[in-house]
Amino acid sequence: MFNILRDKLNIDLKYVKLNGVDRDKPLIARKGVSGMFGTDFGIDLGTASVLVYAYGKGIILHEPSVVAIDRNTGKRIAVGEEARMMLGRTPGNIMAIRPMRDGVIADYQTTEVMLKYLLKKAGIKNWPFYKNRVVVCIPSGVTEVEERAVKQAAYKAGAGRVKVVEEPFVAALGAGLDINGPEGNLVVDVGGGTTDIAVLSLGGIVTKRSIRSGGDKMDEAIIRFIRREYNLMIGERTAEEIKIRVGCAIPEGRKDNDEIEVRGRDLVTGLPKTIRINSKVTYRAMEEIIEAIVSGVKDVLERTPPELSADIMGKGIIMTGGGALVDSLDVRISRETGLVVNVADDPISCVAIGTGKLLKTSF
Ligand SMILES: Nc1ncnc2c1ncn2[C@@H]1O[C@H](COP(=O)(O)OP(=O)(O)OP(=O)(O)O)[C@@H](O)[C@H]1O
Ligand SMILES: [Mg+2]
Repeated sequence: MFNILRDKLNIDLKYVKLNGVDRDKPLIARKGVSGMFGTDFGIDLGTASVLVYAYGKGIILHEPSVVAIDRNTGKRIAVGEEARMMLGRTPGNIMAIRPMRDGVIADYQTTEVMLKYLLKKAGIKNWPFYKNRVVVCIPSGVTEVEERAVKQAAYKAGAGRVKVVEEPFVAALGAGLDINGPEGNLVVDVGGGTTDIAVLSLGGIVTKRSIRSGGDKMDEAIIRFIRREYNLMIGERTAEEIKIRVGCAIPEGRKDNDEIEVRGRDLVTGLPKTIRINSKVTYRAMEEIIEAIVSGVKDVLERTPPELSADIMGKGIIMTGGGALVDSLDVRISRETGLVVNVADDPISCVAIGTGKLLKTSF
């Protein structure tokens, strides 16, 4: 009988004690309740992409932070990957917007549209008797007013309780570090809009720095460089592809995928043109941004209390965020700091996994 009930309602019987001894534990575990009435969510509301983590399921959505809007009616046309495909390709009446460029909420209304759409897509339900819990991680440059705005948007989308959290802390949690212990950890999260560098110990941030340089700035630098050196105009999606396929953070270039074809518009003739570029060229294009990231890491190390520095010497640096995948960025930081640098297993998912872990403890 109990087995049938458990299977039907997805109740975790571990917590159900018929003799009532475990009164402090919930009679039906959270997993069961959320399974029946709704789900709790962790959201990585990033500048480049939004990831949604559903409690008990893991990451269920991963979409670029792009919204396409009809200029005339103000209505949403597409969100996520579908909208990203429209970037730089829209006819006059459609705009494809990245509402959170540069690590801040540049366009609040569109951010709200995106958050609501993705929460609905993730299956959030508004029940009068069950309050869905939502943990949202926002870009680090966001102001208090914008933070409140994000909370409001989550409530409007059906969340019952909302908690907003800081990125490096959640990234470290998602990367599997023990951040509650007394030992120091240094986390470098290279996102689309910002790079967050923080030393964490005893469950809090001891020293941190957030710089407005990340994957997007690398793309912009590639666009500028190719325009200057080759008189070729390329779009931001092409620039991102160049960074992923032949980008490199060390001057000697990369061993694999050494050269690719790049198409764009010739600035002199106005006609389409193709060039070939390799990873040594992309290093020169991205150099300034890489240096900004490296000097941010050095700055945090200089301001770190000596006991924690000693811990970091032993454990090294952990990198998270999509920018951690830029070829040899770990090697470069290691060369310049003399420390061991490890890239987290799935760096793009760390923040979302971290918000998922917080769902258990932060309400
Ligand atoms: N394989 C790869 N190589 C290089 N860069 C990559 C790779 N995959 C993703 N990126 C870059 O990582 C960036 C996105 O990372 P991420 O999803 O962590 O950012 P975000 O969390 O949305 O941004 P932020 O934390 O600044 O708000 C983009 O600039 C993207 O181009
Ligand atoms: Mg991020």
